[in-house]
Amino acid sequence: MSKTFFIQTFGCQMNEHDSERIAGMLDEMNFKENPDRDKADIIIINTCSVRENADNRFFGTLGLLKNLKMNRPDLILAVCGCMMQQQHIIDTIKSKYPWVDIIFGTHNIHEFPKLLSNILNERTKAISIWEDGEEIVEGLPSKRKHKFKAFVNIMYGCNNFCTYCIVPYTRGRERSRKPEDIIKEIRDLVDDGVKEVTLLGQNVNSYKGDENTHFPELIYALNDIEGLERIRFMTSHPKDLSDRLIKAFVDCDKLCKHIHLPVQSGSSKVLKRMNRKYTKEGYLELVDKLKNAVPNIAITTDIIVGFPGETEEDFQDTLDVVDKVRFDSAFTFLYSTRKGTPAENYEDQVPEDVKHERFNRLVEAVNSISAEKNRMMIGKIEKVLVEGLSKTNKELYTGRTDGHKLVNFEAPDNLIGEIIDVKITESSTFSLIGHAVNL
Ligand code: 5AD
Ligand code: SF4
Repeated sequence: MSKTFFIQTFGCQMNEHDSERIAGMLDEMNFKENPDRDKADIIIINTCSVRENADNRFFGTLGLLKNLKMNRPDLILAVCGCMMQQQHIIDTIKSKYPWVDIIFGTHNIHEFPKLLSNILNERTKAISIWEDGEEIVEGLPSKRKHKFKAFVNIMYGCNNFCTYCIVPYTRGRERSRKPEDIIKEIRDLVDDGVKEVTLLGQNVNSYKGDENTHFPELIYALNDIEGLERIRFMTSHPKDLSDRLIKAFVDCDKLCKHIHLPVQSGSSKVLKRMNRKYTKEGYLELVDKLKNAVPNIAITTDIIVGFPGETEEDFQDTLDVVDKVRFDSAFTFLYSTRKGTPAENYEDQVPEDVKHERFNRLVEAVNSISAEKNRMMIGKIEKVLVEGLSKTNKELYTGRTDGHKLVNFEAPDNLIGEIIDVKITESSTFSLIGHAVNL
């Protein structure tokens, strides 16, 4: 009987995709996925270090796994991802959690099969971390979570050094994949049934595949791939969003009319201290330009509350931006101090109770706009990729609109994998309900 594995993934889509890669490599080694973590022969935890509570949850999980390992000494426990790119984390694991067998980082995922073989054959513990990945390793297998949609990395790393953010330290400097490698990967995915790709990068707008292929040119090239039906991307840094990209939204029919454009704060003073390199007014102008060029474009964002030095007045600027842009949805975060980032040493940290109180007000503002925007969809007919049955109601199918809104709907059985028309009949804050029409 073949051995089995379980991967637990924390964090962003980049991590989710790395986990798909790890699953792909295990698949090639003849391991099978096991939905029951506690019965798997190998447990892999792919970590995120963007916020502090993720660190705490990770160490909590490691603590719980000690018993499992004591009962089943053959269990192999591997940890990877962004947290492993921080020396103080590795030191903590080595000293306090010695039952971990394999540690690897974000730059050397491709080494995982070798590290695993070492353990399987010689029972030697393995720690392998690369400081920074200069080269891009192409051709790694991947075991997709979804049949009809896929993540495709177009670049790795980040050069922006926003003062709160750990990513430039854990994912290294920006490096872009060659356009021909990306195009080949997507053609192969389409041959395998994929209809929708999401291009991934910390800041896709600074993609530079070669002299002539920056991000907009890449989109135009991908728009020509036969059989591909939808292109999405994330994440965009406002400072690098070009007019050429806005034009690509107009020209490229496959590019979904949705942009995730993290604003982080509405206060120009806070943005300056965050090193974001745009102002409140600059962001609002950009949004106007997008809305004028692409009516009905869905705009989503990330917002941090309680960055050091944020006053009530600064926070009011954030609420004002929410009010003016009317985001379709927003991920809201309490500022969390990250070791090794410049903001860690800022002296004017905002007290926890103030942060929480502002956070609640922000969530209320954001949610009421999301609910209202969803309500405005009632009666409309939207294009939806039928992904499969809804998780919460097995009578309904599930999918996303062009603007990335989640819809559960009634439809005939044979439409999975198709893009169909769905009439929206009900709405809530986070999703829509409808039924298939025009069949
Ligand atoms: N504290 C809170 N939120 C953070 N983010 C990144 N770093 C931090 C931090 N230290 C948020 C940003 C980013 C999203 C992925 O996570 O909003 O866009
Ligand atoms: Fe972090 Fe800023 Fe880079 Fe985004 S752009 S990954 S927030 S440093």
